[in-house]
Amino acid sequence: MAPRKLAAGNWKMNGTLAALDQIDQLLADLPAAGCDVLICSPATLVHPMVVRAAGKLAVGGQDCHAKASGAHTGDIAAAQLADAGASHVILGHSERRTDHAETDAQVAAKSLAAHDAGLIAVICVGETEAQRDAGETLDVIAAQLAGSIPDGATATNTVIAYEPVWAIGTGRTPTNDQIAEVHALMRDRLSARFADGADMALLYGGSVKPGNAAEIFAIPHVNGALVGGASLKAADFGPIISAL
Ligand code: G3H
Repeated sequence: MAPRKLAAGNWKMNGTLAALDQIDQLLADLPAAGCDVLICSPATLVHPMVVRAAGKLAVGGQDCHAKASGAHTGDIAAAQLADAGASHVILGHSERRTDHAETDAQVAAKSLAAHDAGLIAVICVGETEAQRDAGETLDVIAAQLAGSIPDGATATNTVIAYEPVWAIGTGRTPTNDQIAEVHALMRDRLSARFADGADMALLYGGSVKPGNAAEIFAIPHVNGALVGGASLKAADFGPIISAL
């Protein structure tokens, strides 16, 4: 089995019910999809988006707790996302690692909880600009992969997203060679650790736009994208999906 292609949007902390009009527009414009399409919405929109999407695209959350339930005010359990109709959850996004000091071990525990609830974990890794400038990128990515992915991950329940922190929301992207180097490393490490690691989908994320998507998707071992800002408008996300 080859890795499945996935165009994933991350709405981050954007959108109210009115934003679901973008789903209508996206579905109206969506070409006969040659890839899976996913939008990870704010928790408040997961169920309404599932209803609006009517099975034509997948809906995910943006985080979950490592525990199945309990006294954790403000958190959300993987099973609650699944109950709302989510199929995926983003875990270990750099904004969570920075804003909430999430560690690799916590990301691994959350990923395990996601798997236990039947969700596909979209596990994010990525170096800071200082780490890249110091020549540490490959070591950082290898360590994050080793620490953030739980045993039991498979190509069916796990997707990996490489998102250089310095490329997120900045309009800057790595060179094609830099993306290729990291994705090759990820493929090697995943293949060495997991029986079906060669089939795990690898996404690139960070300032993906309609204008650069096709070039990025042509890079070896890039099986799709995790798109932030450009996923908010159907007029931008549609062409990115078409490019995959
Ligand atoms: O999860 C998505 C990434 O953080 C990329 O965001 O496309 O706005 O740069 P961006």
